[in-house]
Amino acid sequence: MCGIVGYVGRKQAGPLLLDGLSRLEYRGYDSAGIAVFREDGGISISKAVGKLSNLIKKTEGGALLPGRCGIGHTRWATHGAPSEQNAHPHVSMHGGVTLVHNGIIENDRELREELLGEGFRFYSETDTEVAANYIEHCFDRAEGEPKQAIRRFMERARGSYALAILFQGRADEIWAVRKDSPMIIGRGEDGCCLASDVQAILKYSDSVCYIGNREIARLTERGISFFDEKGRTIEKEMGRIEMDGRAAEKGIYPYFMLKEIHEQPAAVEETLRSMLRDGRISLSGIGISDSALQKLRSVWIVACGSAFYAGSALQYGIEALAGIPVRTELASEFRYRKPLLSSEDLVILISQSGETADTLAALREAKLRGASTLAIVNVPGSSIAREADYVLYTLAGPEVSVATTKAYSAQLMAGYILCLALARARGRLTRAEEERLTGALRELPEKISLCLSLSDSLSGIAERCRDARDVFFLGRGIDYAAGLEAALKLKELSYIHAEAYAAGELKHGAISLIEEGVPVIGILSQPELFEKMRSNMAEVKSRGGCLYALFMGKDKELLSGTDGSILLPETEPLFSASLSVIPLQLLAYRVSVLRGLDVDRPRNLAKSVTVE
Ligand code: AGP
Repeated sequence: MCGIVGYVGRKQAGPLLLDGLSRLEYRGYDSAGIAVFREDGGISISKAVGKLSNLIKKTEGGALLPGRCGIGHTRWATHGAPSEQNAHPHVSMHGGVTLVHNGIIENDRELREELLGEGFRFYSETDTEVAANYIEHCFDRAEGEPKQAIRRFMERARGSYALAILFQGRADEIWAVRKDSPMIIGRGEDGCCLASDVQAILKYSDSVCYIGNREIARLTERGISFFDEKGRTIEKEMGRIEMDGRAAEKGIYPYFMLKEIHEQPAAVEETLRSMLRDGRISLSGIGISDSALQKLRSVWIVACGSAFYAGSALQYGIEALAGIPVRTELASEFRYRKPLLSSEDLVILISQSGETADTLAALREAKLRGASTLAIVNVPGSSIAREADYVLYTLAGPEVSVATTKAYSAQLMAGYILCLALARARGRLTRAEEERLTGALRELPEKISLCLSLSDSLSGIAERCRDARDVFFLGRGIDYAAGLEAALKLKELSYIHAEAYAAGELKHGAISLIEEGVPVIGILSQPELFEKMRSNMAEVKSRGGCLYALFMGKDKELLSGTDGSILLPETEPLFSASLSVIPLQLLAYRVSVLRGLDVDRPRNLAKSVTVE
């Protein structure tokens, strides 16, 4: 996934493009580049490998590329290694087209072969250069009309793309087109802009709109024209996006991740509050009826990464309280397994960005197979939010750090609320039970705050993990699901191999990896499983493992024999993942800092993977 920006207006484009890219770096940071129309009508381009700071230095903050119309890009490599040659913007062979791209052109080899046959030559390995040449090829045949050239490209290209395009000789306009990759367009007093994500254009826009799939736009200083895929002019409503611009700043924190960890009480509180009516859980805002919930035969939870692990934790509550079978499936697996679905199945898709390609494709597959779809999403107006039958928004606010924290916690809250609404609609929850459980949800933000203060008691475990080759998280039921998220956090932030194991499964093979000093963290919040966990932890200890326990409960006897323990505040066991995850996020954060790594932009990762 990459980030694209564009600006045309009264101000110098270079500094604005770089500022916009700095708010998109979480989408990829292998290389970056900008292209700006000069006053003489030519186009200046500058690119740099590595983090955006290298490009900022190279262009002296954009000052070395004067001009008021330009585009920019920050890259997460898909086709071609991270290099200056493969960095965007890309230019067509004859210089007629300069563009930036987020997405994947899936038939780029076919198009490349066709263009080679037409005499085109290439300087990079990228699918984006193919797009630039193909549009130039179409432009020459479209009587030099950009819109027609773009339409011809759309007829041939397969895959996903958000393109911002400069056409030689049209120095005061930017053309844009998108298919299955996000793009938002803004208008402000100083001109018009576009970006992959609203945060990049918030400062420069009074109003914005999400250009639709397969729509084309022309941006000039004076305004924006929109066209459908047949080239017909269409009207689009520009709306205000109320977003707190402060969210894009770190404030007192050294990293966005630590800021966002500490924003979790508010994120969870806001999400809960948005789904309470007169003190009771209500899904009235999303339009799903009780009768629809009563008819359900099964629920699927489909997502990627941390969102999938949130779903893994939620499955237990839905089955226990709503009495409906739940199946969890990775989105990248779901879409190819030919799932047996009908209108009596509800497929819940969880996604922070709302743009994850595998999850979006799974949503479409679920709809094709007749299931109802409900999205739990954090980004307003994102593709998954717009295409699902129902949407439950998490109100975590913009999440910048690549490793998700507050959005994960808000996903859990949204899932608990859905679980209670399902149970109540299906007549499985007495009013007293509902009030007890709702009360437990109301207390979660405060208890999450208490967990934030556990950070200092993690220093011993963090030191022990710092140079470890392997780290294991053990748990049963919901604690196993929490362990999956903990392992992902540690892996993606510290580059240490970490695994979560269902505690009962360890003895079936992986226990061979336990040796003197290997850190093992047991997660214990499910009282009916404590005895089983006790024996699993003894198995680890007897083989020399360095055993820590994350414990919620009263029977501290369980902690005897451990090398350290963290005590959690108590809550409803079905909601315990909301608390156990907090110290586990902080542990991953601390180990990453101890190892001197870039907490907010771990290597090889991107915030939202909008490619398959
Ligand atoms: C989480 O820390 C990771 N950055 C990653 O696993 C992420 O959760 C996953 O890519 C799903 O993203 P989404 O929630 O935006 O769909």
